Amino acid sequence: MRIDGGGGLVDHAPFCQAGAGEGNLAALVWLDPKESHMNKALDAHALDQAFRTARTFPHYSARPVADETLRELYELAKWGPTALNSQPARFVFLRTPEAKVRLVPSLMEGNVAKVQSAPVTVIVATDTRFFDRLPTLFPAYDARPEFLADQALADGTRFRNGCLQGGYLIVAARMLGLDCGPMSGFDPAKVDAEFFPDGAWKSNFLVNLGYGDPASTFPRGPRLELEVATQFL
Ligand SMILES: Cc1cc2nc3c(=O)[nH]c(=O)nc-3n(C[C@H](O)[C@H](O)[C@H](O)COP(=O)(O)O)c2cc1C
Repeated sequence: MRIDGGGGLVDHAPFCQAGAGEGNLAALVWLDPKESHMNKALDAHALDQAFRTARTFPHYSARPVADETLRELYELAKWGPTALNSQPARFVFLRTPEAKVRLVPSLMEGNVAKVQSAPVTVIVATDTRFFDRLPTLFPAYDARPEFLADQALADGTRFRNGCLQGGYLIVAARMLGLDCGPMSGFDPAKVDAEFFPDGAWKSNFLVNLGYGDPASTFPRGPRLELEVATQFL
């Protein structure tokens, strides 16, 4: 790592982290690239909460979700990997009755009560101009012209990585003790007209967030057997 005259980090930044007191060089913690890969499997409780016992909740308790928790959620989920570090997902947190009522006309009938029950509904969207930020997000080379020249590449990259980031959001929420209810039963054109009238962002799916009512879950659906869903070559 080099440190420029102004005290900024100018390369190999992934291998260092600012500790308490950002900007304070003394607080920089060096991470050896080898040591950073010596992670251990998380304990069974963590795996249960994130995956094995996590459920999709149609209804939620009245316990609110603080804006600070939503900020914490983004700050965790943002670290999930995306192609060229492109991060095309955008997240709109609807956490007031006034905001949620704007969503209702776009919903499939069966999803209305679920949105009304959840303290927060997230519109997981993508930014059609995500590539404009690539020079900053992925400075290794300028990939922006490739996306400007190829709409199919831009759309595919945006959708693939936007879906991944929505998935990261769900798992991050569970790791923070929140419950989720993802939903695609809505009219994206209506959501886009209501929330993104300039056309720059496009809705992908919705995620209800809150503290789930365990009595509201459906019987757990089976997951595919390993032999069906995998190949080992
Ligand atoms: C992308 C996506 C879209 C979904 N759309 C809806 C929906 O519109 N309405 C609904 O009630 N559930 C919806 N679900 C919930 C799924 O049916 C549920 O997550 C799945 O059956 C697994 O349930 P479990 O987590 O309780 O095992 C959706 C889930 C995902 C991931």
